[in-house]
Amino acid sequence: MPKLTIVDTGEKVEAKSGTSLVDLFEFDGIRSIPFNCMRGVCGSCAAKPIGSPIHLGEQSNDEKYKLEDLGLCPDNHRLLCQCKLMNDTQIELV
Ligand code: FES
Repeated sequence: MPKLTIVDTGEKVEAKSGTSLVDLFEFDGIRSIPFNCMRGVCGSCAAKPIGSPIHLGEQSNDEKYKLEDLGLCPDNHRLLCQCKLMNDTQIELV
C-alpha cells in the first residue's frame, strides 16, 4: 500500500491506492494537514509534494487556478483536499 509522509511533522499513514486524503483525515486519523473547506476553495491545505505531484492523482483546472490565485506554482504544489494517494509520497505543508 502507498504511504503518505508529512515531512514537517513526521506523521505517516498507509492506505489503499486511490484513497482520498480527505478520507485519510476523516477515517485514518491523520491530523497534520490543516483542512478547512475540503472543497478546493479556501487554500488552507496547500502543500508541496517532494517528487512527482502526480503521485497524488490528476490535477483539475480548478485546482490549478486556485493555486495560482494563492501565488503558488501549480506544477509543484497541490491542494491536498483534491488529492488521492496513488504512490508513496512525501509532502511539505505550505
Ligand atoms: S481544505 Fe480548503 S482548499 Fe483544501
